[in-house]
Amino acid sequence: MEKTTLSVMKADVGGYVGHTGTHKAVLMKARECIRKGGGKGLLIDSWVGGVGDDLVLILTHDKGQDSKEIHKLAWDTFTTCTETAEKLHLYNPGRDLMSNDFTGNIRGLGPGCAEMSFRERPSEPFVIFLADKCDLGAWNLPLFKMFADPFNTPGLVIDPSMHEGFAFEVLDLAENRTITLQLPGDIYDLLMFLGSHSRYVVNKVIRRVDGMVAATASGPRPPGVGRSVGSDDPALIVRCQNGLPSVGETTEAFSFPHIVSGWVRSKFQGPLMPVSMEHTRAFRLDGPPRVVAAGFQLAAGELDGPVDLFDDPGFDGARQRAMEAVEYLRRHGPFEPHRVPLDQMANTSFPPLLARLESRFVPHDPDDRKGRSSRKKSSSEESP
Ligand code: 13P
Ligand code: MG
Repeated sequence: MEKTTLSVMKADVGGYVGHTGTHKAVLMKARECIRKGGGKGLLIDSWVGGVGDDLVLILTHDKGQDSKEIHKLAWDTFTTCTETAEKLHLYNPGRDLMSNDFTGNIRGLGPGCAEMSFRERPSEPFVIFLADKCDLGAWNLPLFKMFADPFNTPGLVIDPSMHEGFAFEVLDLAENRTITLQLPGDIYDLLMFLGSHSRYVVNKVIRRVDGMVAATASGPRPPGVGRSVGSDDPALIVRCQNGLPSVGETTEAFSFPHIVSGWVRSKFQGPLMPVSMEHTRAFRLDGPPRVVAAGFQLAAGELDGPVDLFDDPGFDGARQRAMEAVEYLRRHGPFEPHRVPLDQMANTSFPPLLARLESRFVPHDPDDRKGRSSRKKSSSEESP
């Protein structure tokens, strides 16, 4: 049987209103582009939607990963939708398109891209997680819970194909290199990396028993003017059931709204709130950061779905906890840890603002301090 490829592409081509959501006209244009461009056997199926201010294309086909034709279709869709955004004066048209020219692959040009090729199982359920207002490191904790924590995923204990564990491919964003750690043996080593989620991010999770790729995340976007890691707004594909986490074991990993970087101006930390597709628009201080879970069954490449998996009162508690964290963190205003640490403020307007004050700094003279303390000492010595 031929392999099916699942390509998930995501880009901010212009927001409505501001950074909060996606315009109906942009979604309609994207659907038209995919319908027209995906004909003649190029695509098997597709789904187009908006998550916050990001346009999302979910495409199935038999052209394999990194297919030039498929990436070109996605690129043309994003550029055409940028023109629509420009006509409507939407906010920041083409924000995620870092180049004017398509060079054969959408990776490196700005849009997020997660792809996976596999032979369909008799039943092929999978979940696509789509986040807005956060960095790539947002997947570290939930992926650890899904694939390494038996308190989240009992299948790790009771399913023989999962019992062997999973390998995590971790990308070092600073050095552009990867390391693969085998779990459960390397669990503590893995956590050293995953805890530093602004530098190390999970790229891929592989089932050890047979090498099956179980999960794959979109990669880093190129740095650009005004763009920072907090606006990665990543996508994640997770295959489910039969020796992989059940659909519920994947969603359970988001029942704790952990803290991620992104939110307003892409520079603030806040909880990742699981929301239904109806609630992806980010209205409170352009946030808080949020994630949707789109569940699909695949049938010979045809997408049956999405099922809106966080549209469930079972996640009301997580949403409530997220809003408690929002209230707490928001009281910090521009202070860390609500604002990201200073080293993550590089490549923003913050360093030039600080530089304006450079001339007002004076040396902090340790001798002067010594002088003051010795003066103090001698005066006390003098007193009876
Ligand atoms: P996005 O990353 O979703 O574009 O949001 C950026 C921002 O600045 C929100 O205030
Ligand atoms: Mg966004």
